[in-house]
Formats: sequence, C-alpha cells, structure tokens
Amino acid sequence: MTASTYGYFDDANKEYVVTTPFTPLPWINYLGNDGFFGLISNTSGGYSFYRDAKFRRITRYRYNNVPMDSGGRYFYINDNGTVWNPGGRPVRTELDHYECRHGMGYSKFIGRKNDIEVEQTTFIPLKDWCEVHRVTVTNQGAASKSVKLFSSLEWCLWNAEDDGANFQRNFSTGEVEVEGSAIYHKTEYRERRNHYSFFSVNAPLAGYDTDRQHFVGVYNDYSCPQAVMAGACTNSEAHGWSPVAAHQLDVELAAGESKTFVFVMGYVEVEPENKWQAPGVINKEPAQALMAKYDTAEKASAALKTLTDYWDGLLSRFTVKSGDERLDRALNIWNQYQNMVTFNMSRSASYFESGIGRGMGFRDSNQDTIGFAHMIPSAVRDRIIDLAATQQSDGSAYHQYQPLTKKGNADIGGNFNDDPMWLVLAVANYVKESGDVDFLSYVVPFEDTPEVPSTIYDHLKASFYHVVNNLGPHQLPLIGRADWNDCLNLNCFSTEPNESYQTTQRGDSDVAESLMIAGQFVLYGNEFIAIAKLLGLDSDADAAQPHVDAMVAAVKEHGWDGEWFLRAYDSQSNPIGSSNNAEGKIFIESQGFCTMAGIGFDDGKAKQALDSVEKHLACEYGVMLQQPAYSEYNPLYGEITSYPPGYKENAGIFCHNNPWIVVAEAMMGRADKALSYYTRITPAFIEHLTERHKTEPYVYSQMISGRDAYIQGEAKNSWLTGTAAWNYYAATQYILGIRPDYNGLQIDPCVDASLGDIKITRQFRDAVYHIEIKQGGGTGKGIASMTIDGVAVDGDVIDYQTFNGVHDIKVVLN
Ligand code: GLC
Ligand code: GLC
Repeated sequence: MTASTYGYFDDANKEYVVTTPFTPLPWINYLGNDGFFGLISNTSGGYSFYRDAKFRRITRYRYNNVPMDSGGRYFYINDNGTVWNPGGRPVRTELDHYECRHGMGYSKFIGRKNDIEVEQTTFIPLKDWCEVHRVTVTNQGAASKSVKLFSSLEWCLWNAEDDGANFQRNFSTGEVEVEGSAIYHKTEYRERRNHYSFFSVNAPLAGYDTDRQHFVGVYNDYSCPQAVMAGACTNSEAHGWSPVAAHQLDVELAAGESKTFVFVMGYVEVEPENKWQAPGVINKEPAQALMAKYDTAEKASAALKTLTDYWDGLLSRFTVKSGDERLDRALNIWNQYQNMVTFNMSRSASYFESGIGRGMGFRDSNQDTIGFAHMIPSAVRDRIIDLAATQQSDGSAYHQYQPLTKKGNADIGGNFNDDPMWLVLAVANYVKESGDVDFLSYVVPFEDTPEVPSTIYDHLKASFYHVVNNLGPHQLPLIGRADWNDCLNLNCFSTEPNESYQTTQRGDSDVAESLMIAGQFVLYGNEFIAIAKLLGLDSDADAAQPHVDAMVAAVKEHGWDGEWFLRAYDSQSNPIGSSNNAEGKIFIESQGFCTMAGIGFDDGKAKQALDSVEKHLACEYGVMLQQPAYSEYNPLYGEITSYPPGYKENAGIFCHNNPWIVVAEAMMGRADKALSYYTRITPAFIEHLTERHKTEPYVYSQMISGRDAYIQGEAKNSWLTGTAAWNYYAATQYILGIRPDYNGLQIDPCVDASLGDIKITRQFRDAVYHIEIKQGGGTGKGIASMTIDGVAVDGDVIDYQTFNGVHDIKVVLN
C-alpha cells in the first residue's frame, strides 16, 4: 500500500481508495461492459447511457459546471436536520469518515456522520442494462435512531446534444409515471421511442419527487435540495420542465442495526406492438422483470460477486510478479482495466469528452484493440468487422463511425491517410493472439461495394495500396487531412475561426507528405507481406515487397535530416521537423515510427534518431511531441500551431506516442532507456506527482503539459487515450517481451536489471504458460537459453502446435 494526500492503491482488492471528496479534479471510474454504461466520480457524480452517449443518454450531466462535477446519482441522509451524502458531496457537511473505493466495474462509497454509516456500492451487472446501488445504512450508536434516506437523479431527454440546447421544445415534453416504488421516465415514448428508463427501490416509499423544481427548488442546487432539507418529498409529478427521480425512505434503526436497500436504475426496450398496457400507460413488464432480478440485498451482492469474479478471470490471463510492485500494479490491474474502457468507449465519453461530439474513431479503435486482444479476442474480432465495414474499396476509411448505427460519420468523412494501415496492426495482432487465421478469409464488404464479397485480407491489401497509390513528390505518403497527429493540418490553410481544422481541406493536397505514415507503411507493410505469405499468396507478397523497399529508400534519401528523421513536407514541399526550421525542429512521431519499422538499424540512423529524442524531446514528465514549441499560429501547419506552447500537440507530452519510443528502445536493446520512458508516464510510477498531475493516479491521461507550458507536468484528458493500449503493448510485448506470433509465443525481453527476476503467467489461446525470466547479468536484451517443462529448446518461440497445454517455461536473459 502506498499513499498520497488523496488516496492509495489497495492491490489486494484491485481498488484505488480515494480518501477525500476534494481531489484536484473529479476522479472517476467506469461502470458497465455490455451496452449499458456509467461514468461515476469519487463523489458519485456522473451519468449513464445506453450504448451511445449522444443518442441514448439516460441521466443528465452538465459539463464544465460550477462547482465542478455537480450532477450524479446522489444519496442523502437527513439525520434530524444534519444533511449529508455518503459520497462526501454535493452537500458541504464535513463527514467523520469518507472513502471511495474505485474497483473493477464498481465504486463503493463509505460515509459516516454522527454514528450513522452509509455504504453505497454502485455497479452495472454483467449482462443487464441497469445500474444497481446497494445502500446499507448502519446505526453505530448506542441508541435507536430514525433517519431519512433520499435518492436522486435527473433524467436526460435521451439525445444529449438536443437536451442541452433545445429548451423551447424540451421544457414541454417531459413525462413520467410512478407505480409502487418505481419512477418511470417516459419522455417521447408517446411518439417515436420504444424505450424508457426507471429508478426503483425494494422498499415502500415515504415519498417521492419527479419534478426538479419541487425536489431541488428553482434557486437551490444539489448541495441543498429543498425536499431533502425540509425532510420530505412532495410527491410531485413532472409535466415538462426537468423530470427527476427521487425516493424518500424513512429508516428506523435500533442501536447497532443495519438495513440494506437496493436501488435499480434501468433501461428497457419494448416491442413497438406491446408498448402500452393501457391507453397512456406504459408496458412495465420488462422493467418489473429487471427489478425482480435485484430486489434483495442477496441478489445484488451475488451479482456484484459475479462481476468481480469475471474481472478476476479476465485479469488472470496475464499476470506478472517482478521486483517492482509498481510494474505489477500497472500491468496486472489498472492498465488492463483502462484498456477495456478505451476499447468500449473509444474517445466518446469521459470527463473531458462530452459524449456528444465523436463516435468510434477508425485509427483510435484499431489501436485500442492491441491492449485488449488477449482479454476478449472475440470482442476484438467483432470490432474489427465493424471498422472494416466502414472502409472504402480504395482503402480509404471513414474517420469515425457512430456505435448505435455502425455507419461511417459523413460529417467528418475520411482522408486521414494514416487510417488505413492501422487496420493491418489490429488484424495482425488479433490473428497472432487468437490463432484465428480463418478470419483473414472472413467476408466483410467494403462500404462502397456492398455486393462484392471482399475478405478481411482484401481490406488489408486495400490499406496497403492506398498508401502506394497516394505518394507525393518525394515518393513519401501524402498526408491528406492529417496523419496520426490530427493537428498537423497541412492542407487546411484556415484563417476562419469557425472552421474545423479536421474537416477543412483546400487545394489538391497532392504535395504534403508524412514521414510518420512512411514509417507506419514500412512497419505494417511488412506485416501485410507476412500475412500474404501465411496465406500462401506469394505473388501478392512478392508484388508488395518492392513498395516497402522503395519506401525505406525514400525515407533514407528524403526523410533524414542529419541527426533525426524529418516529420513531414508541407504543401510547398518544405520540410517540417528539420534543424533548418526555426521552431518544430524535431518531432517524436517519425522517430518512433521509422525506428519501430526497423529503418536505420543497419546504418546507425535509428540509434542517432533515438539519441536525438533523448537529447531534445525527453523531460522529467515524459517525451514531448516536438521542440521547440510553435510560438505563433501558422495557417500552413494548422491546428498544431493554434495551441499555446507546451499544451496538446504543440510540444505537450502527448502520452500516446511515448510508447513508440519505448518499443524502439527495446528493439535497440537499451533496457534502461526503455524502462525509463515507460515509467515517466505510467501512473503507478508517478503517484508522487499527483498534486501536479491532478488527474486520476490510476490511469493514463492523453496529455501532460510540456516544458514550454505555464504549468509543467499537469495532466489533462484522463482515461480515453491510445496511451493505455500502447503502453501496455510496449511493456508486455517489448519490455517483458512476451510477444504473440502466428506460430506461437515469442519470448524476447528487454529488461532492466532493476526489475529483478520476473514471473509471468500468460494464457495464450488455450495454453497457459508459467514463465520465469532470470537476470543474466548482461544487457537484458533477448534470451540466452530457454527450457520448456525442463527441456532445453532452441530459439525464443514457444511453438503452439507442440505446447498447447499448461507448461513451465524458464528463460535466462542475455
Ligand atoms: C417553434 C418554432 C417555430 C414554430 C413554432 C410553432 O417556436 O421555432 O418555427 O413556428 O414552434 O410550431
Ligand atoms: C487524439 C485523437 C487521435 C489522435 C491524437 C493525436 O487522441 O483521438 O486520433 O491521433 O489526438 O492528434
């Protein structure tokens, strides 16, 4: 257990324990695995949605509110006039004890005041579309007590964007029903919606409210809701305005007595022909069936146990015990957990992403799979199919798709020229993990040729040739709207403030080129060639190889600046990321991708590029995106220059790309540097920086402000970032070197001596490998010897054909 001012890791329970409601920013957790999701802060703020945070928002949340994080599922105690929340907010009453335990798929709040303790455990059961709150009220005093317990949440009128904008309509549409202890939210059900939501409790009510003006009051807020302060709900019925759901329970407790209540907030869909049970009365059967599954404390606890068992099972597929508990904590618990969340959410709904702006990103979602494929390969397979279905036959792809419709987002369109090759990474990684070679023959038509039975392999080939067919004057890949760096908009030339950098494109865009895509093409182009060979398509492989070779040559001839790789050529064919530039002389992305692709390992360029990264880009808080920062807006470069120096893509530490350097250093065999870069941004290693960092100490953030920023080392945009998948991939596949391949599991570590001897349990397809890695006293790169079940074997691959049961592997490092 390590501690900071705000909390500590409890590894045995796989929890982070927050010890104050007043963290530097709200520290959140994610609930839900399958359709129904919730974001929940350390004071029980946040919201819930079904599948799509924009189109099916269930509870309302106001972003960027004052004070921050006001709105959520709040429980209140009114103990003879003393009013408080077990989650420590929004009422300002100071508690005698507060803790929030964020765990795997649940959050638990324990609040205590004047001998009353409330434990609220909130989770979304594995298979059901509901949020369960198990609330236990205990009288720890010597005398009996009667207190009032209130629940409260505010409904969103489904479309979150419209809900926050179209008040002239929305203030008239709200509708509810109350029956027994259940409050039903049925706005728009009378028209085109075949779904409603409800909030119920398994106990008789002393009162309820469904109208916000009655429950909160027009000029009150959630820190002093009128009904709670008065000690009585008003049984209000919402017609329009803002429907809410609030229950009042009067709880009598003898000395030492506990009572547990189960609140369920659920979402149901109803067959259109069975919508009504009587005119104007909604069909409540499916809701009642759902409530019945959680109508006792025992049932709720059993569902919670099923959920935690599920997580224990998922996390047991890869476990490590090294000489550094921080590495183990990161890899065994929090990084894997975050990988699941980013896989589910892409970049849609966090405390920094409002859930109304973006769907599933093509590049984001492809990359997110590499941290998740070992956990649930079948889910990755399904995701890849969805992504491939938004690709065009020329290899280009919609940049995003909406999860509810699975259709490419036409407002954003495509032309981000790195997008296609990420599909190769995702597919290769999935096939290596699962052994599902047949997937390459699986038919998924291209978006524009629905009648043609194209296979996944055809998609990879289209990706490959999309790059080949879109080369610029230096035979390097055209960048299109942007490559991985969404903010390097070399064909945008915007001087109009209301224009989107992402979607505006002017001119022919047949000049600006990307060295990042060049490296990406070599890396995943080689992967495509390997796949062609795997399928026996040698002529495809032979035809592809010269394109990859030509790209390597083009990078060396036109992409090398002298001490590092250039970043791009702009629309005038002038270099970006060159020592000749006044600012933005060196960038991380091309150093990462060209070296990961193996370019320059033969002639010293790769080593020189990585040395330049260390010299110019590395700082205490991570590796900055570029240096020097741009000091002025430059329409030729676009959004990157719109940010003040040190923030976001303008010389911030954009964590997603740091693992590229970790991988490259591990390939280079420099174990100390690989580990050092890895640990600079890994939450478990930088708990001491929490005060500066501000975001959750258990997950990665997208961005940490860089050396040029007014405040350095401050993190933003936690949770939904490609950093999670990539840093996990870098640590497990390149530092620990446990790397799936088509024919088996390769063991190629690059381990710094400070990690000591290491034990790993790795489930690989149907096999379980218990792997022991012993220090060899040398470089730590690669292995000197390997035994499987005590028998020495050649090479560093555990052949799956031969070893597909439970096996003991012992390796000694070089
Ligand atoms: C809303 C609309 C307006 C319309 C009126 C009656 O005010 O903005 O265009 O005429 O409703 O439907
Ligand atoms: C954001 C985007 C991602 C992009 C990155 C760098 O994280 O989601 O697609 O690669 O920014 O611009």
